[in-house]
Amino acid sequence: MERTFIAIKPDGVQRGLVGEIIGRFEAKGFTLVGLKLLVASQELAEKHYDIHKERPFFKDLVSFITSGPLVAMVWEGDGVVASARRIIGATNPLTAEPGTIRGDFAVSIGRNIIHGSDAIETAQREISLWFTDAELANWELTIKPWLVE
Ligand code: RTP
Ligand code: MG
Repeated sequence: MERTFIAIKPDGVQRGLVGEIIGRFEAKGFTLVGLKLLVASQELAEKHYDIHKERPFFKDLVSFITSGPLVAMVWEGDGVVASARRIIGATNPLTAEPGTIRGDFAVSIGRNIIHGSDAIETAQREISLWFTDAELANWELTIKPWLVE
């Protein structure tokens, strides 16, 4: 079953949006299989954003992402990787569509509230970076027949 890694960044936590954001993924019909609040270490943040290490914003990005608690999650469901990216919205919140998380709650690219894996392979890499197998629950929603035919 397809899974994606979602993180509510420190700005989302500070702004009291944890419940709102989790609620959107729940209401959509995806399954929460991993959840924890933590302050990411420098090493973890650098590994997570390794693809951006040559970019000018890398240092600020790592510094921001380690600046306070974030909520790390794994969500499961058919097509969840691409769908979560649409629920999240464009990287720049000013161009993110209303109705998306960034479109509804953010105004700045460096404070865009939430991260979501950008591809299935990225999701696999990020999930194993942030979670051990024992931290992930294999379970099925009892309402599944009402979500998927
Ligand atoms: P994310 O990885 O956080 O889900 O965001 P994304 O895929 O939409 O965007 P990505 O290109 O992967 O960039 C990662 C994060 O770096 C910050 N950023 N700042 N100042 C800038 O030009 C700039 N560009 C990107 C954003 O916080 C973005 O979410
Ligand atoms: Mg990205």
